[in-house]
Amino acid sequence: MLGEPDRLRQRIDALDRLEVHFPQDQVAGSRDEAALQQRARAIKVRLDALNRELYQGIRSEIQRGAGRDRVLAWSRASGLDEGVTGPEDGDRYDHLDELAGGILRLDPPDDMAIEVAPEMVSYQPTPARVIFDLIERLGLTARDVLVDLGSGLGHVPLLAAICTSASCTGIELEAAYVECARRSARALNLARATFVQQDARAADLTSGTVFYLYTPFTGTVLRAVLDSLRREAATREIRVCAFGPCVQAVAMESWLEAVGPRQTHRATIFRSCR
Ligand SMILES: C[S@@+](CC[C@H](N)C(=O)[O-])C[C@H]1O[C@@H](n2cnc3c(N)ncnc32)[C@H](O)[C@@H]1O
Repeated sequence: MLGEPDRLRQRIDALDRLEVHFPQDQVAGSRDEAALQQRARAIKVRLDALNRELYQGIRSEIQRGAGRDRVLAWSRASGLDEGVTGPEDGDRYDHLDELAGGILRLDPPDDMAIEVAPEMVSYQPTPARVIFDLIERLGLTARDVLVDLGSGLGHVPLLAAICTSASCTGIELEAAYVECARRSARALNLARATFVQQDARAADLTSGTVFYLYTPFTGTVLRAVLDSLRREAATREIRVCAFGPCVQAVAMESWLEAVGPRQTHRATIFRSCR
């Protein structure tokens, strides 16, 4: 039953349990134990192969310009609320992150421990569950331009480009992260996912309709970027989406109003008001 294509969550749970009970470097104490270990490793190999096959199938569809419905169906099948009970679950990772990782095949730079300047927040991706939920709620169209300010390895623009017809851009300070995101976009033929290596304070935001922040910076940097967004909002209506601790600061902006309730396990969507 674990071999069914739609049993991804169960397969990943089973793989996690196999890893805990039969770690790679475990030495067997008896012949029975050795046999059990061998059987566990064979199951692991089979489950890994099934997952790889699933991810490759979805990648091929995306490369052909399809795949959107399949990826969204996967995220819907998981249900955001399942297992998400409170604030402590906000940045928990789950099988959807495995799925996103398998589809995007991001090949991060060796040294992810890039020095973090004051007011800059170190890299952490938005959980895929939160990204899919946001994509569903935003209802992006071909007229939208989604801009992730501090896009890291590019999960948000890449998944949004796969699942919607919007143009999706990531602005990211670290050149190695940008290169990684670009490689993934190229490999998946995602021309609508583009990445700019730049300080978000200097970025041209004039084409953006929806902006996303997963607490990329704090203090004066956040202030400067919020001021840039306010200037954009004076020219047209924009939406600003925030996740993590920065939601509090974004919510203080008098030119923004939250769309719906603020929930710590979901991104909050704000709309500019005149
Ligand atoms: C918490 S991570 C979020 C990554 C991505 N937005 C996501 O949700 O998966 C914050 C990112 O912001 C980047 N960053 C920090 N300060 C920045 C700045 N001034 N301009 C552009 N990017 C910045 C960091 O390098 C890091 O990759």
